[in-house]
Amino acid sequence: MSETKRQDWADALADKIHQRTVRIGVIGLGYVGLSLAVEFAKSGLRVTGIEIDTEKVARLRSGESYVQDVKPYEVKGLIADEKLLVVDDYHVLNQLDAVSICVPTPLSKTKDPDISYIAAVTKEIVTHLHPGQLIVLESTTYPGTTDEVILPELQKSGLQVGEEFFLAFSPERIDPGNKHYHTHNTPKVIGGVTARCAQVAQALYEVAINRVVLVSSARSAEMVKLLENTFRAVNIGLVNEVALMCDRLKIDVWEVIEAAATKPFGFMPFYPGPGLGGHCIPVDPFYLAWKLKTLDYKARFIELAAEINTSMPWYVVSKVVDALNEQRKSVNGANILVLGITYKRNTNDLRESPALDIIKILQGKGATVTFYDTYAADLSSLEGALHVPLEKEVIQAADCVIIATDHSNVNYEWVLDHTQLVLDTRNVTKHVNAGRARVIKL
Ligand SMILES: NC(=O)c1ccc[n+]([C@@H]2O[C@H](COP(=O)([O-])OP(=O)(O)OC[C@H]3O[C@@H](n4cnc5c(N)ncnc54)[C@H](O)[C@@H]3O)[C@@H](O)[C@H]2O)c1
Repeated sequence: MSETKRQDWADALADKIHQRTVRIGVIGLGYVGLSLAVEFAKSGLRVTGIEIDTEKVARLRSGESYVQDVKPYEVKGLIADEKLLVVDDYHVLNQLDAVSICVPTPLSKTKDPDISYIAAVTKEIVTHLHPGQLIVLESTTYPGTTDEVILPELQKSGLQVGEEFFLAFSPERIDPGNKHYHTHNTPKVIGGVTARCAQVAQALYEVAINRVVLVSSARSAEMVKLLENTFRAVNIGLVNEVALMCDRLKIDVWEVIEAAATKPFGFMPFYPGPGLGGHCIPVDPFYLAWKLKTLDYKARFIELAAEINTSMPWYVVSKVVDALNEQRKSVNGANILVLGITYKRNTNDLRESPALDIIKILQGKGATVTFYDTYAADLSSLEGALHVPLEKEVIQAADCVIIATDHSNVNYEWVLDHTQLVLDTRNVTKHVNAGRARVIKL
């Protein structure tokens, strides 16, 4: 391929982007993909979402949104204006100039990376890959996935990367429920397989995102995401261990953190809790640790943080057992109400939520567990625990109420007024009059 020809494909795509005639596709319309598709569509591009879950496709087509941060009126308007098209098959890839991959990257049962979704999508893309097409992986994964897994598969098309097609990695940084930072005002990191790949991807994302940050390679971009999430996982692990230490020392960990946070430099507060949750922080560091294992390197901070963080639900239960014991009660046969079961306040995401572990551990010890969470209103039960209304009789009947997630739509003063024992894992009752309740903190 001559230098002139190489310039042609990249320039042709850049022209389409500039003129807003570029046809973009987003594969996987979950939390990440739907938000991204809507953002591109709102910026005036024609977007096609490809989603295998036909129920999600039907809901989007009828103007519904199942992602909390994407408003139904936005979906409705974009579908009506034909800015957003939603399909459940890959034929449309033939017509698309750029494709962002936003499929899940879970862990296997043995906590190894499961990149089967990425592999499946790549196999579909290669059958439709055509000159001038840009492919961007957004799913969080280990460094090397873009170069070592996707690139060889796409090269089976016979097309040249950086010349005839373009490949980049750009991690999604969405923070569900964040009122200030959304897709468009969160800087987007991009690393291309070649410099030309990065430039083309940058031109595309700059249409919808306020700031694009280029790094030198796809591997660097993959590592950026893993640094960000490992940073959180390790710091949460550290502060959870500080909570365990403070418990032994009979010191209020929350007071210590609050005072330390008054230091205007060199300290960033993290808070203890009942364990890690969500699709990212409990999962992503294992992707990095796994990759390092293949290189004979043990990711020690990651393993230690994971050990502490995954022990937190057990610690929560041990606090309940001790508190009941002081009242000459046993957890076996106790009625325990869990307030808040989603992994994070004011969101409806249940993935990896530590509340689910707490429920299972308590049940294993013979407790009868119920829960209350308006963000999981459609669940009548979970893990055999019944969803109960937050009524006086219900909390009065509980031997212990565990505040596992601190949703802001619960009147904690009222809860403390009508119950005997509360374990507050989030310090949400800090300024609440304890009333009749004995309140234990993490
Ligand atoms: N949720 C977050 O807050 C967040 C933040 C940053 C990064 N990420 C990363 O982004 C990626 C996606 O996460 P998510 O939270 O959006 O997941 P999700 O499960 O909400 O969405 C993924 C979507 O992909 C669809 N899908 C699966 N296989 C498909 C296929 N072959 N073709 C088309 N669609 C397919 C699923 O049906 C689902 O709707 C993951 O790698 C995750 O780690 C997530």
